[in-house]
Amino acid sequence: MKEKAIGIFDSGLGGLTAVREIQKIMPNEDIIYFGDTGRVPYGSKSKDAINKYARQDARFLKKMGVKIIVAACGTVSSVAPDLSEELGLPYTGVVNPTCFTAAQVTKNGRIGVIGTAATINSHSYKRRIQEKHPEFEVYEEHCQLFVSFVENGLVDPDDELVRLMVSRYMKPLKDSGVDTVILGCTHFPLLAEAIGREMGSHVTLIDSGKETAIYTKIILAERGLLRENNHQGSAQYYVSDTPADFEKFAGLFLKNSPKNHVEHINIEEY
Ligand code: DGL
Repeated sequence: MKEKAIGIFDSGLGGLTAVREIQKIMPNEDIIYFGDTGRVPYGSKSKDAINKYARQDARFLKKMGVKIIVAACGTVSSVAPDLSEELGLPYTGVVNPTCFTAAQVTKNGRIGVIGTAATINSHSYKRRIQEKHPEFEVYEEHCQLFVSFVENGLVDPDDELVRLMVSRYMKPLKDSGVDTVILGCTHFPLLAEAIGREMGSHVTLIDSGKETAIYTKIILAERGLLRENNHQGSAQYYVSDTPADFEKFAGLFLKNSPKNHVEHINIEEY
């Protein structure tokens, strides 16, 4: 069982921010990644569509024989149910580990959350934080447009368009005096520099991909499923649209291009 890969999925490129962190902290693990590039974005879709996509994505990874499934997508984690029982496999989303860290980090008890429209409309992060800390104030802002910018490689903090968009969307959170902002969509860490500049250095940004990678390691360790040190981890990537576009932009997320193959699959078969 230990030898099996970690399965990770997202609507597109965003989940690669979790892959990058997993590769950093668990270099011995193999990874199988599915990016639903043919159906991105998820954040503007209905609950029924998101539920259907999440199940298909997870079923594909299960068929690939993974030992755990990571929904590295704020939207799926907020809208779709926990699929661990249905799949008979350990499963995690990004909401719980991210909220845990944000609650540890805040000093003034004012936390901002940015995510896709579906994520923010679900109030998933806010509910989770206030379940444990009813005294905290949580301010939510949906930034669906950020996903399109990121999917098109528009992330340069010096780019005027990026600066304008970030400043327009972050204004309400800036005005509310938050000291912590949850990047509640796995695409958003790519805009972290632009968001950080806008919010100022007194505001801590919490990266949902990174927190989920740390939590995944804890789950695997608890179950005795971590791989031994004598194996160099590899990664395989699957997408539902043309592999060429994915390869082109994946380097942005991974800080290097996917060295191994990127293959197209028909996700409707799962
Ligand atoms: N990366 C995804 C998330 O974390 C979704 C972006 C989208 O497909 O709208 O929410």
